[in-house]
Amino acid sequence: MHTIIINNETCINCEKCVTICPKQVYKSFESYTIPAHPDICISCLHCMAVCPTNSIVFQNNNTDSIENLKSFDVTNFDNFLSSIRSVRHFKNTLIDNLTINNLIKIAKQAPAASNWRTSDILIISDSSKISSMEKITIAHFKKLLSLFNPFIINILGIFRSSLKNYLLKNKPSILQLIDKYEQGHNPVFHNAPHVAVFYGPSVNKLSKDNCDAMMHYFRIYAHSLGIGSCIIGYAYNARKDLKKFLDLPKEYDVFGFIIFGYPLLSFRKAIIRQNYLK
Ligand SMILES: Cc1cc2nc3c(=O)[nH]c(=O)nc-3n(C[C@H](O)[C@H](O)[C@H](O)COP(=O)(O)O)c2cc1C
Ligand code: SF4
Ligand code: SF4
Repeated sequence: MHTIIINNETCINCEKCVTICPKQVYKSFESYTIPAHPDICISCLHCMAVCPTNSIVFQNNNTDSIENLKSFDVTNFDNFLSSIRSVRHFKNTLIDNLTINNLIKIAKQAPAASNWRTSDILIISDSSKISSMEKITIAHFKKLLSLFNPFIINILGIFRSSLKNYLLKNKPSILQLIDKYEQGHNPVFHNAPHVAVFYGPSVNKLSKDNCDAMMHYFRIYAHSLGIGSCIIGYAYNARKDLKKFLDLPKEYDVFGFIIFGYPLLSFRKAIIRQNYLK
């Protein structure tokens, strides 16, 4: 539990902390405010960020990270977001460690459910390891294809209709994926110099959502640095096998894969993405 202290010498009882706190930790009286329920605090530090007199102190918590907001320019941010496209062709150049560490740092700034920040990112930059991941993903799809006989499809229709529908809908693209691989291409990870693996604790029911949020921060920040990226859903399908290969702790699950690197081609036009649901 956090020890939250309000400096009564400087507090002006403006109640901003009371208003902003998502957990109703603070209680205000006629002439003073107190942290009445510190046990339910989620460490979001909204209270510290709004207090006009810096009167709130957290003990046993790292609040060094709180700083004055730097100015930023968001003119054209809509164009910036529209210009993010999935990049699948990369220069044969590795991104330096400092930049990769910054990408991880910014991705970890993403919001997390209840501010429970327990998800993490593993970066793979070893091309032979990425080749093995490619092979494992293809093997997974070959195994799936072996389910394509009328008997198993009928059984799946009774017990796992979502898997049956997935198989029927995706059979052509799975066949194409395997075919491309057999021809010597890398249709899963696209010869990318780096793969980012997003994982979080299995017990947290919102780990997938937390990883999704981190993945979007990662991609948006990468784009601002001229780094191209693409989410690899095929690898997500093979996540259990890949998790074993990557030797991730058993109490964690993998929730997403992103390939990234310096783009070989640049997009000169933006498109307006269509929404098919009218
Ligand atoms: C997947 C996900 C689910 C969330 N669910 C809720 C919610 O149900 N109610 C809520 O008030 N905030 C919710 N949040 C917001 C988080 O609690 C919030 O992002 C976190 O406390 C950090 O605060 P910040 O976004 O201002 O940094 C959710 C965030 C994520 C990523
Ligand atoms: S850190 Fe967040 S939850 Fe905790 S007291 Fe401050 S505003 Fe409330
Ligand atoms: S926001 Fe700061 S000054 Fe205002 S009541 Fe809370 S602690 Fe006091």
